[in-house]
Amino acid sequence: MTAILDGKVAVITGAGSGVGRAMAELFSTNGCEVVVVDVVPDRVDQVVEKIGSKRASGMVKDLSNKNQVEQMVDETCEAKGRIDILCNNAGIMDGVVPVADVSDELWSKVMNINLNAPFWASRRAIPRMLKNGHGTILNTASVASFSAGKSGVAYTVSKHGLVGLTKSIAVFYGSSGIRCNAMVLGAVNTAIGFGSATPSPQGVDLLMKKTFPAIPRVAEPIEIARLALFLVSDDASYVNGSCVVIDGGWSAF
Ligand SMILES: NC(=O)c1ccc[n+]([C@@H]2O[C@H](COP(=O)([O-])OP(=O)(O)OC[C@H]3O[C@@H](n4cnc5c(N)ncnc54)[C@H](O)[C@@H]3O)[C@@H](O)[C@H]2O)c1
Repeated sequence: MTAILDGKVAVITGAGSGVGRAMAELFSTNGCEVVVVDVVPDRVDQVVEKIGSKRASGMVKDLSNKNQVEQMVDETCEAKGRIDILCNNAGIMDGVVPVADVSDELWSKVMNINLNAPFWASRRAIPRMLKNGHGTILNTASVASFSAGKSGVAYTVSKHGLVGLTKSIAVFYGSSGIRCNAMVLGAVNTAIGFGSATPSPQGVDLLMKKTFPAIPRVAEPIEIARLALFLVSDDASYVNGSCVVIDGGWSAF
């Protein structure tokens, strides 16, 4: 019996932990060869070891660096011959810091990892996908893509931008066989925390005021990965430019 992602090659960023790891594991059990990309070498090794070298290979890259992002795409194409699926998933939080308190350093770091890296990776991967006549890009967005009370300004702006990137790719390349979508996550049980920034007391206070979702718990990464599996598969052949909300009803409240 053929599996839903049989014969596909997927690059998944931030796959050493949380949502990215769950996607790597689920995609691989559904026939996909996954390239596990993360900045933390131990995490990459652990995930590749768990999945096994038949279905997974690892790459240690710092996605805040444009050259390393481009190398990620180039090295995958050299090793595997192509990229069918690109999951721009890696992301960091911003300490919930409001605009007047954001340093240039924090702003650049969050923008580079959360928004510039998906742009750099997509820009590099799309010509390869066009050559193959198909491809799908899945971006990990957030409820902070549509509102401002879930993070600080840097994260909010980066995730709003990611939705724009998603729609633009979908519009320009949909007719050439490339689909691009985003998952809009609520709270998920991962290691993301507040990021390396010192948490802003004002921001943390704001975040703690969050309305409990209609389903009163955070999601497990596997629940997100199941949506990802559908969106990158041919079962979602008419889903393009969509921002699919998966937040337990938080934003519907
Ligand atoms: N967890 C949540 O509640 C939540 C909510 C909304 C959106 N998201 C988004 O989900 C995505 C995945 O986050 P997660 O919750 O699984 O977090 P996580 O911290 O568990 O995993 C993120 C991974 O990205 C890696 N990473 C960070 N900076 C990197 C860099 N410069 N280069 C390469 N890898 C890097 C980390 O090492 C980590 O393994 C992020 O884009 C995040 O913004 C998460």
